[in-house]
Amino acid sequence: MNRTVLVTGASSGIGEACARTFAAAGDRVVLAARRRDRLQRLGAELGTGAIVATLDVCDRAAVQTALASLAPPFDAVDVLVNAAGLALGRDPIHLADPDDGRRMVETNINGMLHMVQAVLPGMVARGRGDVVLIGSIAGSRPYAGGNVYGGTKAFVAQLAANLRAELRGTGVRATLVEPGTTSTEIFAVRFKGDMEKARAATAGLRPLSPGDVAEAVRWCIDRPAHVTLSRLEIMPSDEAPSLLGARIE
Ligand SMILES: NC(=O)c1ccc[n+]([C@@H]2O[C@H](COP(=O)([O-])OP(=O)(O)OC[C@H]3O[C@@H](n4cnc5c(N)ncnc54)[C@H](OP(=O)(O)O)[C@@H]3O)[C@@H](O)[C@H]2O)c1
Repeated sequence: MNRTVLVTGASSGIGEACARTFAAAGDRVVLAARRRDRLQRLGAELGTGAIVATLDVCDRAAVQTALASLAPPFDAVDVLVNAAGLALGRDPIHLADPDDGRRMVETNINGMLHMVQAVLPGMVARGRGDVVLIGSIAGSRPYAGGNVYGGTKAFVAQLAANLRAELRGTGVRATLVEPGTTSTEIFAVRFKGDMEKARAATAGLRPLSPGDVAEAVRWCIDRPAHVTLSRLEIMPSDEAPSLLGARIE
């Protein structure tokens, strides 16, 4: 394919699977996240078509610096897959740690904005590109304890819709991918290392694998230029959210 694909959250889960999937298709990948050791291991495995960009998406200056220091041909990003994100805690909001909410807003909203604003000028100037935002079914399906996380994912969905409106005619496409429960480290992060709670989050259903989501992302991007997959929801077959007590991330 020979595209340059910048993946945030490439050190784990859905982002890592996206990096592997695009690399397997012959694309160059820029692996972005904070944990450099993990990115370097993945980069070494993927070979010369992969480079590492260690960055915290919450730090706008660091994002700008990291992207400005990419050497050709990695500097002209054809595809951004913004998978970096997190959920923290599952308490009702009156009991929740306010710092958890702040970090989710900083990462899932501000971090996403930093990435989108860093890559879009080049894409628009070149007249082509793809921005893939990883939202969540939690952005439209409420559940107890989903308060700020769900709110950040609703923001992601609306941002994607607005990008569609304002990028019309530029050659740049925007795609929202909203997974249901996927087997990643998100639950260990959410429950701050309490693996019993993390395991319980996926008990009783067969979750998506990160690779399932990555394949869907790649399928969206591989459509011809005149076709945009504007919004894709992908769920485990066993998961059907309802207001009556679904367990969703
Ligand atoms: N798993 C699910 O059930 C599910 C369902 C719907 C949506 N999602 C969404 O899918 C996306 C990926 O999550 P995942 O499930 O793959 O979880 P994960 O395995 O925990 O991966 C999260 C990734 O985000 C990166 N990240 C977090 N904060 C960051 C920051 N400040 N700067 C840069 N990178 C950061 C992490 O890397 P470092 O820690 O190395 O920085 C990691 O690579 C998230 O947006 C999540 O909301 C997940």
